[in-house]
Amino acid sequence: MKKIIFSLLLTMSAVNTAIAVEGNVDAGEAKAAMCGACHGAAGISPSPTYPNLAGQQSAYIVKQLSDFKSGARTDMMMAPMAANLSEQDMADLAAFFSSQKRVSAQAAASDNSSAPAAVSSGSVDIVTSTPAKAIYAGDVKAGQEKSAMCASCHGADGNSPIAIYPKLAGQSASYVAKQLADFKSGERVDPVMVGMVAALSEQDMNDLAAYFAVQIPTAGQAEGSDIGHKLYFGGDANKGITACVACHGVKGKGMAQAGFPALAGQNADYLKKQIASFREGSRGNDRSSMMRNIAIKLSDSDIDELVNYMSSIK
Ligand code: HEC
Ligand code: HEC
Ligand code: HEC
Repeated sequence: MKKIIFSLLLTMSAVNTAIAVEGNVDAGEAKAAMCGACHGAAGISPSPTYPNLAGQQSAYIVKQLSDFKSGARTDMMMAPMAANLSEQDMADLAAFFSSQKRVSAQAAASDNSSAPAAVSSGSVDIVTSTPAKAIYAGDVKAGQEKSAMCASCHGADGNSPIAIYPKLAGQSASYVAKQLADFKSGERVDPVMVGMVAALSEQDMNDLAAYFAVQIPTAGQAEGSDIGHKLYFGGDANKGITACVACHGVKGKGMAQAGFPALAGQNADYLKKQIASFREGSRGNDRSSMMRNIAIKLSDSDIDELVNYMSSIK
C-alpha cells in the first residue's frame, strides 16, 4: 500500500517538475520514506555516522543533493540516492527536512556524558524487521502517559529499582518495541510481561518504546573484572565465543538500527537470567539464533564475569 502511494506521488512529482521548483512539505514527507532508514523518518539519524537533516537550511540541502547527483560531492551511499531525484523532488525533500524540529530524542539519551536531560516530547523512530525495515514513529509524550502501569516494576523513568527487572531507560526503541511484540505473540515467554502487553496496540508499544528510549539510564552497581572485560572485547577463540563488542558496541550501548540492545549499566541479575535463558533455549526470540549460538558456549563462570562487566559499563 505504502509503495503504491509512494510511486503515485513520484509520478505526480514528475508531472509537477515542469511547473515550479518550490518545495512542498507534504510531498517531501512522502518522498522522504526512502531516506528514513539512514536519516530517520523525521531527519534525526539513528546512526552516528549519518547526518541529521532536521532543521537544516533547505537551500543547503538542495545544493548537496544536486552535488551528489552531478558528482561534485562524492559519497557511495548518497550518489545512488540522488541519481533519480528531479529538481522538484530535491526541493520537496529539502522543504520537508528543514521543517522538522532539530531535537534529537535519541541523541539526548545516548549522549548523556555532560549534562543529562530527559526528553519529554518529540518522536523516536522504531525500525522493525517485519515488514522489512519498516519505520514507525513512537510519540514520547503519549508513551509517558501509557507508562504509568509499567512504573511499579520498571521505575517511572525506566530505571527499575529491583535487580531482576530490566532497566528500560536509554534502551533502543526498536529493540523495546520488538520485545513487547514478542511478549504479545508468545515468541518471548514471561508470565508477568504477557499480561502487561495483552491489551497494547502496536502504536502503544511504539509510544512506550519511544518514551523509555529517551530516559537517562542510571549507572549499574556491579564491578567488572579483567576477565569479563577480556571476554566482552575479545571473545574466546578456543571455545568459539564471538566477542560481544561486535554487536553490543564498545560502550555497551548496542546498535539501535540492527536491533542489538544496550547492556551497559543493566541490572546484573537480569542479564544473568537472560543469558541463561538463551543458553537453555527458553528464550528464543533472537533472530537467526544470534544469541543462542553464543550463549551455549558460555560456562557459568563466563556468564558471571560477563554480566558483572556489562553492568559496570558507564
Ligand atoms: C543508505 C543510507 C542513506 C540513505 C538511504 C540516504 N542517505 Fe543521505 N547521506 C548518507 C550519508 C552516509 C551521508 C554523508 C555523506 C558524506 O559523508 O559526505 C549523507 C548525506 C546527506 C546529505 C548532506 C548532509 C550535509 O549536512 O552535508 C543530504 C542533504 C542527504 N544525505 C539527503 C538525503 C535524502 C534526501 C535522502 C533520500 C532521498 C537520503 N539522503 C538517503 C546516507 C544515506
Ligand atoms: C509486575 C512487574 C512488571 C510490570 C508492571 C511490567 N513489567 Fe516489563 N518486565 C518485567 C519482568 C520481570 C521482565 C523480565 C522478563 C524476563 O525475565 O524475560 C520484564 C521485561 C520487560 C521488557 C524486556 C526488556 C529487555 O531488556 O529485553 C520490556 C521491554 C518491558 N518489560 C516493558 C514493559 C512495559 C512497557 C510495561 C508497561 C506496559 C511493563 N514492562 C510492565 C516485569 C514487569
Ligand atoms: C551477532 C551479534 C551478537 C553478538 C556477537 C552478541 N549478541 Fe547479545 N544480543 C544480540 C541480539 C540480536 C539480541 C536481542 C535478541 C532479541 O531480539 O530479543 C541480544 C541480546 C542479548 C542480551 C539480552 C538483553 C536484554 O535486555 O534482554 C544479553 C544479556 C546479551 N545479548 C549478551 C551478550 C553477550 C554477553 C555477548 C558476548 C558473549 C553477546 N551478547 C554477543 C546479538 C549479539
